[in-house]
Amino acid sequence: MHTKDQSIIVSGGSRGLGLHLVSRLLESGNRVATFARSRTPAMDRLSGEYGDAFHFTELDAVDVDGVNAFVADVANRFGSVDSVVNNAAIGQDQLLMHTDVDTIRRIVDINIVGPTLLTRAAIKRMMLQGSGNICNISSICGSRGYAGLSVYAGSKGYLDAMMRALAREVGEAGININCVAPGFFESEMSSVLRPEQLATIKRRTPSGQLSNDENIFKVVDLVISGTTNMQGQVVFVDGGITS
Ligand SMILES: NC(=O)c1ccc[n+]([C@@H]2O[C@H](COP(=O)([O-])OP(=O)(O)OC[C@H]3O[C@@H](n4cnc5c(N)ncnc54)[C@H](OP(=O)(O)O)[C@@H]3O)[C@@H](O)[C@H]2O)c1
Repeated sequence: MHTKDQSIIVSGGSRGLGLHLVSRLLESGNRVATFARSRTPAMDRLSGEYGDAFHFTELDAVDVDGVNAFVADVANRFGSVDSVVNNAAIGQDQLLMHTDVDTIRRIVDINIVGPTLLTRAAIKRMMLQGSGNICNISSICGSRGYAGLSVYAGSKGYLDAMMRALAREVGEAGININCVAPGFFESEMSSVLRPEQLATIKRRTPSGQLSNDENIFKVVDLVISGTTNMQGQVVFVDGGITS
């Protein structure tokens, strides 16, 4: 365990990887706030289990005023915003020539504008505190090509590039920003992959296995621990498929 007694925002914590990150960070003794467009039963369960150490709001990541108000509310409730994990995103499973404009705009909005707004709101607080950790959940798609994921891949490449530039802006203020780039793992988002596609990915993966939520949590936990002097890096958690 690396993070303890931190106030942490995880976007998109209602299910999938986000829910695992929220649950494990709470287990380690942190205060965790999360949002998603809709509430899931897991949010009620965590509220019951962790009381004031857990906070969930229904919020769309692209709602500018809502995101600013959420960050201010978390700072009031928890006393600080120590770490942010930009996890909320939507996927794509379509060749670009079949992808309509609305879908392209939605991916850009949720996967690019959303994390940028949350990061902007959080670093204003972190600058005043003189410390903070930001971890973007990127993807191997941001660095390697996969058919059917062009716009999604572009959004993840944006997170990597934005993170590197931002590291130069905020590093001196005691804020570190890095990306964790998982390979494919099981979730609603990756459920579009057919069994034969998953089998091919596994076969091409040196470790012979896909990453799971807990593999990714361990790396995120380290990245936001503030103990590593890691700055402006993309860390792959992919069993070596990009190696
Ligand atoms: N699954 C994979 O194979 C894979 C591989 C590499 C990287 N990743 C990345 O890992 C992260 C988590 O993926 P996952 O597979 O766990 O996804 P998931 O199961 O689809 O969960 C996505 C989460 O984000 C929330 N979300 C989506 N759009 C939102 C919006 N506009 N505003 C607020 N919340 C929103 C969802 O809740 P609502 O829908 O209710 O809003 C949900 O809580 C993502 O950044 C993804 O790109 C996934």
